[in-house]
Amino acid sequence: MERTVVLERFDVDRIRKDFPILSREVNGKPLVYLDNGATTQKPQQVIDAVVGYYSLLNSNVHRGVHHLSQLATDAYEVTRRKLKPFINAAHEHEIIFTKGTTESINLVASCYGRAFVNAGDEIIISAMEHHSNIVPWQMLCEDRGAVLNVVPINNAGELDMETYCSLLNERTRMVAITYVSNSLGTINPVKEIIDLAHAHGAPVLLDAAQAVQHVPVDVQALDVDFLAFSGHKMYGPTGVGVLYGKEKWLNAMPPFQGGGEMIKDVTFAKTTYNELPFKFEAGTPNIEAGICLAYAIDYINAVGLDNIAQHEQALLEYATQQLLQIPGLRIIGTAGDKSSVISFLVDGTHPYDVGLILDKLGVAVRTGHHCTQPLMDWYGIPGTVRASIAMYNTKEDIDILTAGVQKAAAMLG
Ligand code: ALA
Repeated sequence: MERTVVLERFDVDRIRKDFPILSREVNGKPLVYLDNGATTQKPQQVIDAVVGYYSLLNSNVHRGVHHLSQLATDAYEVTRRKLKPFINAAHEHEIIFTKGTTESINLVASCYGRAFVNAGDEIIISAMEHHSNIVPWQMLCEDRGAVLNVVPINNAGELDMETYCSLLNERTRMVAITYVSNSLGTINPVKEIIDLAHAHGAPVLLDAAQAVQHVPVDVQALDVDFLAFSGHKMYGPTGVGVLYGKEKWLNAMPPFQGGGEMIKDVTFAKTTYNELPFKFEAGTPNIEAGICLAYAIDYINAVGLDNIAQHEQALLEYATQQLLQIPGLRIIGTAGDKSSVISFLVDGTHPYDVGLILDKLGVAVRTGHHCTQPLMDWYGIPGTVRASIAMYNTKEDIDILTAGVQKAAAMLG
């Protein structure tokens, strides 16, 4: 199953060869995949690992003395071991496997909420959150009689830090903010957000679903309390995600779900719970995805996050320049610090219609509210067309996108 790429320098043509899907056609045109915010494509190394797992290792983890179970368990734990330096966690047991970012956030809202949130307490989120970082906190607030406060944004899509400061107080029990906005691309000033929250005794959860594949994340340097992200947005398989939590919080929280694996001892009178991380990992996990995520981490490490960020930033700049040449095109999200996401609208067109025309040209983008309805309401728009760039995208991809949007504007405008 070993096949690791090591690049001397960033070589996008070499990288593209590792992603077989990029050679296919869609509607008779070469695929231009610009929907990476929704999910990234997978390199051959990850695809081979999936086949290799089912061909050689398939068995349950942490449950058997037999050879295959040992091999699968070892491979599964290798991923946890690789995630530790990837986000610079202090301990492996601070890394909990989940189904994805959504489950990671729900876990914290539910377990931290039961332990620490009471009537009259306050939770802070922001106006640019994905539904998965809104609804779990709304559910918690309804359940506990707590109050949900929302940090507003300016027109560029940047957080209003003055209002954020004014919302922090001794009743604040959690600040849950996205690291990078999936709709706008805004990179939030997370270190400042964390330091300010800590000055009021409040922990911080960062939704890093759109961050870890674009910028190096160091949980200890940030001093963040919880970090959530997904495997499938970082070139890995679907169905596995990560919750990083500081040991002190994870130990103080009750379990999420009851079942196998999360227990130490069960009688009908009483159950005692397992140690971290297993206390939060009830039931058979997505073993294949957990194991194969390690190959995506290896891939990102081999290319280098700094190289990826540099390449994506150059394409972001180029795409911004090119798209802004189109009369009537407006970019939604113009923060000073942006990740490689461009959301836009073209006067007189609906995002959905633009998306359909682009699809006919082989260009995959996302259209609609991007699971951020309150953000779209704030801008007073139905949604946007969103192009989200990954390490394998090229200037040619951006040229084809631009020509496609021009064509759509001419047809629909
Ligand atoms: N949250 C993913 C997106 O932004 C699905 O597209």
